[in-house]
Amino acid sequence: MYRIVKAEKLADLIYLMDVEAPRVARHCEPGQFVIVKIDDKGERVPLTICDYDREAGTVTIVFQTLGASTYRMAELKEGDSFQDFTGPLGVPSEFVNESPDSLKQKKILFVAGGVGAAPVYPQAKWMKERGIDVDVIVGSKTKDMLILEEEMRAVSGNYYPCTDDGSYGHAGMVTTKIEQLVTEEGKKYDLCVAIGPMIMMKFVCLLTKKLEIPTIVSMNPIMVDGTGMCGACRLHVGDEIKFACVDGPEFDGHLVNFDESMKRQQMYKTQEGRATLKLQE
Ligand code: FES
Repeated sequence: MYRIVKAEKLADLIYLMDVEAPRVARHCEPGQFVIVKIDDKGERVPLTICDYDREAGTVTIVFQTLGASTYRMAELKEGDSFQDFTGPLGVPSEFVNESPDSLKQKKILFVAGGVGAAPVYPQAKWMKERGIDVDVIVGSKTKDMLILEEEMRAVSGNYYPCTDDGSYGHAGMVTTKIEQLVTEEGKKYDLCVAIGPMIMMKFVCLLTKKLEIPTIVSMNPIMVDGTGMCGACRLHVGDEIKFACVDGPEFDGHLVNFDESMKRQQMYKTQEGRATLKLQE
């Protein structure tokens, strides 16, 4: 069993948990994910790792209640446990294999949307720990929905919050902020890492392609069982067929077929809705 040592509500429908999982904490790297399962009847939920403390042996996960399983997870309190906490899974972010000296020569931009701030955080933190300054744009619907602000500010060279309703930071989408930084402020980026809702990643990639900024995205949103068995996360990356859970979750965003992946993501909506209704009966 994997004990929850901290359970916190970050925003409406968004929860953070620190879970005792020493083996995962010892080996995980930015970009990887875990599969959590509450009990025998629980569904396997793939979640990108938000943070880890190798000494304390804990791993931080952040999730949004979207369906039956995540609603059940949100009810868990400090002291409760997950039956399974499997990981680290997936391929670590490509940059972990690059030398810090070569990364220091690059200007890197992270773009996070909604709960996408959770997987972006360990990546920006990894950079900060190696003396690499990065710019971070985080978008949310409203100020209340913006998560991990303090943590993200601490690891960013420049931090740019954006809200759709203009209640905080830049008023508008993350894409208009990228455009502003590049075209109005003359910033140049060698790499962009964009993680968030599929539609956000699609539009960030359309823009960065135009601006000629290589872009990495995380296809975690289409994963289901996370083991390469169910086939749900199959996607086209250029001419190649990949599986997000075993070949990714991170891919070259300019090669990902987002329209196909978004259709795939809709496939389980009806089933998920029925399971959630059953839970609320
Ligand atoms: Fe099932 Fe990848 S999530 S094959």
